[in-house]
Amino acid sequence: MSRNAEKPARLLIRDLSQVASSAGRNAPIRGAELRAVDLVEDAFILCEDGCIEEVGSMRRLPTLDGDVVEIDGRGLSAVPGLVDCHTHACFAGDRVDEFSLRAAGATYEELHAKGGGILSTVRATREAGEAALTAALSRHRSWMLRAGTTTFEAKSGYGLDHDTELAQLRVIKGAGGVPTWLGAHAVPPEFADSGVDSYVDFLIQDVLPDAAVLAEAADVFLERGAFDVEHARRVLSASRSAGLELRLHGDQFTQAGAIPLAIELGARSVDHLESTGPAGVAALSSSAVVGVLLPASALFLGRPMPPARALADAGAAIALATDFNPGSAYCESLPLVCALAATQLRLAPEEALAACTVNAAHVLSRADRKGRIARGFDADIVLVAADDWRHLAYHLGGDVVHTVVRDGRIASTARA
Ligand code: NIG
Ligand code: FE
Repeated sequence: MSRNAEKPARLLIRDLSQVASSAGRNAPIRGAELRAVDLVEDAFILCEDGCIEEVGSMRRLPTLDGDVVEIDGRGLSAVPGLVDCHTHACFAGDRVDEFSLRAAGATYEELHAKGGGILSTVRATREAGEAALTAALSRHRSWMLRAGTTTFEAKSGYGLDHDTELAQLRVIKGAGGVPTWLGAHAVPPEFADSGVDSYVDFLIQDVLPDAAVLAEAADVFLERGAFDVEHARRVLSASRSAGLELRLHGDQFTQAGAIPLAIELGARSVDHLESTGPAGVAALSSSAVVGVLLPASALFLGRPMPPARALADAGAAIALATDFNPGSAYCESLPLVCALAATQLRLAPEEALAACTVNAAHVLSRADRKGRIARGFDADIVLVAADDWRHLAYHLGGDVVHTVVRDGRIASTARA
């Protein structure tokens, strides 16, 4: 194959203790298959033109002619580049003051009801302007990359007016993220008098036509104090007609009908699920909708953990994500999320791996080229700083990511 000068050179990662990647080629993975991992020991990975060319045992390493960049993998193990399928990483400012208030007893919902919470980040994001927002996302994106995230989704929802929502989507796309339109995140102050219905009218008539050009999916915060089932159905139905995939924030604080609506509309995912009960588990498990679990958010807000074990046992397709945002999950680390999955959600490390690689890639419609270390997939690889890949989940909040390869190039390395 002739090499395009723009494309990365060949990259050989050699003498790896292990390469671990969810078995098979299908997505999403459910049930017992969630635990099946293809493991190669004493292994190499060869990447060419940004793709994985070969994975195998060092005994079978072919002689390579020409220019090859080599990484010494001794003492390291490799997993697929992590896929964060639910973030709100495009925001200005922070909410450390509210964090202190919450530590002293205020609740997330109380702060939101008083015009703080999401709306305080909306004020900061509107004021920031597109250049400052680009810089903020670039900073957040570098944190995510260092933690092993090679593919990320990010939502709008901190603009809530036409221009700032569009600016957020442009900034996310410009940073290489997968943009999701979350105009229905909160009702902004200028609609406080006219009400939620007229804000939903505005979203559908004035914002959606332009948002649909940039975004890949639409999302709605379906929750007490935010948007109800009828609002969500209107926004999501119109979004589907505009060609977008559908997502939902559901069952975070209350069961307000998100799972039945997600199933009715054929949504790609319903995310959060901290309040989901047995009926929701049963319904989701017999559907094609992915349950996206956000244990860092539950931990950060001191909420119950989502029923991940019940969902996995019932055969639901599950994914894991950070929910990285300034209010409910100031956390960019999928390895920490994997540790929470293993310690709080009772998922095996193998299940957690599938949930933040293959199944997260499926949520973002990229499972044909992201989420696996297998021939033909994009060369997105995390080198874990241990000879057993399960340290990814075992090392709680640890410095576990050694090197990140994205598109066949070294994108981040902890130890030069
Ligand atoms: O997924 N709950 C709604 N949205 C976000 C939080 C956004 C924020 O607090 O800024 C979430 O938790
Ligand atoms: Fe969220």
